[in-house]
Order: sequence, then C-alpha cells, then structure tokens
Amino acid sequence: MKGVILAGGTGSRLHPLTRITNKHLLPIYDRPMINYAIESLVGAGVDEIMLVTGGTHAGEFLRLLGNGHEFGIERLLYAYQDKAGGIAEALGLAEKFVAQDRCVVLLADNIFERSIKPCVEAFLTKESDPEHLRHLGVAQFDGNRKIERIIEKPADPPSQFAVTGVYFYDETVWKVLPELKPSGRGELEITDVNNWYLDQGLMEYDVLEGFWGDAGESIQAYYSVNDFVRSRAASQEQ
Ligand code: DAU
Repeated sequence: MKGVILAGGTGSRLHPLTRITNKHLLPIYDRPMINYAIESLVGAGVDEIMLVTGGTHAGEFLRLLGNGHEFGIERLLYAYQDKAGGIAEALGLAEKFVAQDRCVVLLADNIFERSIKPCVEAFLTKESDPEHLRHLGVAQFDGNRKIERIIEKPADPPSQFAVTGVYFYDETVWKVLPELKPSGRGELEITDVNNWYLDQGLMEYDVLEGFWGDAGESIQAYYSVNDFVRSRAASQEQ
C-alpha cells in the first residue's frame, strides 16, 4: 500500500495566515500540521509516501521532511501541483508513483485522534452540527444504511455522516480521474471520484471513532484542532 498526502491548495479560508506560508506548515500545538498526516500513515504501516504540494512555499517541505527517514518513511517523493485545481487533480500527480499498487490518500489538514490502521476501508465520521456539515462532503443513505450518494457541501445535509479526508483506492482510480469535469468551484472533486465508485457498487465505508478535525476549514476549526491536540498532549504528560 502506497501513501499519498495532499498538501496543496491555497488555504484561503485561513488568510491572512496562509498568505505567508502553506497551510500545512502552520503549527498544530508543537509541530507543523503536515507532521500529523505523516505520523498517521507511518503509524498505519505505510512507509512509501508521495507528498503533493504547490505554491511558493513548496521548498519548505523539503527543509522540514528531507528524505523522510527521520519520520520512519522509507521512500519519500514530492510532486508539485501548478495551481490549486482540486483534490482529485492533485491525486492525479501520484499515478506513476502508485502504479498498480493500492493507495491510501490523506488530506494533510485532517487530524485524527485514533490510528487509521484498523479502518483501511473507512472514511466517514459522525458530525451533528448542520453548519459544519455544510462545509464537508456528506453521505446520503438509503433505507438499508447503504450510501446512495455523497453530496459535496450540501445546503441541506442529508445525514450526520461527513466524509473525512482519508480515502483508499485501487488502480481503477487512474481511469476515473481523466473522466472528471470541474465542479462549480472550478476544481476536480474527490467527491466525484467517490461517487463513481458508489455508482459501480464498489464503495465500502466504515465510521471512524474518536476526534476528527479539518484544521483548514476555518480559523475556529484550526484552533479547535489545536486545543484538542494540546489537551491530549497535556493529559499524556500527567
Ligand atoms: O476535510 C474533509 C473534507 O475535505 C471532505 O468532507 C470533502 O468532501 C472534501 O472535498 C474536502 O473538502 P475541503 O473543502 O475541506 O477541501 P480543501 O479545499 O480544504 O482541500 C483539502 C486538502 O486537499 C488541503 O488540505 C490540501 C489538498 N488540496 C486541495 C486542493 C483544492 C490539494 O493538494 N490541491 C488542491 O488543489
């Protein structure tokens, strides 16, 4: 299993902080945000990773992570996304790296309390605040608890199950990506990729337990993730 960490985009929801750096280099408690994604993958046994980033601060990732060995990564590759064309576009840059292998894709602004290891096919989390759900991809179920559709940023969330930023794909994903059309916000959406798998009846999901946060969603979300990580560190020190 190969790992792909997506750390591009503009981070516009965290302006002005992200005018002077990449969102994923901002601190979460005592280390940069990107470190958490790396720890999640390495902790799940993934040690061949491609980091996709872009913008004017891409070089800083190299300074921070180097060849990755210090973090337990066997092979660390970097890819550069020319413009923030969407999560699915960023994933497309990893095609040759992943090749015929399976891959786990992680959005680098997602912070998980629990290890992702036991949920290799999981990517949902329960979220009861409708305002929060309106900023995420949300699952719509049929009467048998099967997902019918994932709705990206729904005005009227169809359930309380949000799609987190961890996805697992087989090699068919490389055939799906070229078929995508830009969404209303001009991006190639990961939700369209996941809905393709749904349409084929090939989607599996699981519900993730424990804290989950998207630190790039807003300044409030960024600080609630910081608060969580900091209080967890404090309780572990006691
Ligand atoms: O956090 C979970 C949510 O992430 C899901 O519920 C949504 O379905 C999914 O679309 C995504 O929504 P966001 O609006 O939070 O995505 P965002 O634009 O913040 O991008 C998430 C990460 O993907 C970001 O940390 C960096 C990476 N990215 C994003 C874009 C647009 C790239 O590497 N390149 C890009 O062009």
